[in-house]
Amino acid sequence: MKILFVCLGNICRSPMAEGVMKNLIQKHNLDWEVESAGTERYHVGECPDKRAQRTAAKFGLDISKQVAKQISSKDFERFDLIYALATNVMDEILSLKGSSAYQNKIKLFMDELFPGEYRDVPDPWYGDEAGFDPVYKFIQQGCEKIIKRHMSIAPQLTEEKK
Ligand code: 4NP
Repeated sequence: MKILFVCLGNICRSPMAEGVMKNLIQKHNLDWEVESAGTERYHVGECPDKRAQRTAAKFGLDISKQVAKQISSKDFERFDLIYALATNVMDEILSLKGSSAYQNKIKLFMDELFPGEYRDVPDPWYGDEAGFDPVYKFIQQGCEKIIKRHMSIAPQLTEEKK
């Protein structure tokens, strides 16, 4: 399974999602690949926002080595699932050339927690660092949901590391 998490800048939400999911797949001994990207290119080449880095570090994750990149049409083929962290991101992804053939791969992340409610993982960029904690928690819960659903479908593949 190859998963891509996408937000706007690829410096706050999707890097945390990449870090959280990589930690979970390691814990569950899954042979999955996870990357993240942004719809915008303002921050391409940068490492995650310091506030995102510190928030992830509080929960034991090092996301400092990630480097921001922009989603491209090639990603539709490369990944099995593409999670938009917010509705404006989803709209942006669906407006990219070639997306129409891959609509079944493109999902709204918050539908994992609030199906059909068309919710966003809040954009923490303009707020202060305290705003990153609830964002991290939504991401953690959503990623756990994705893993759990997979385990119920293919439990033999997901034996937790002792
Ligand atoms: P992200 O947050 O999409 O979670 O990485 C943002 C980062 C940068 C900007 C907006 C949101 N920006 O406007 O530069």
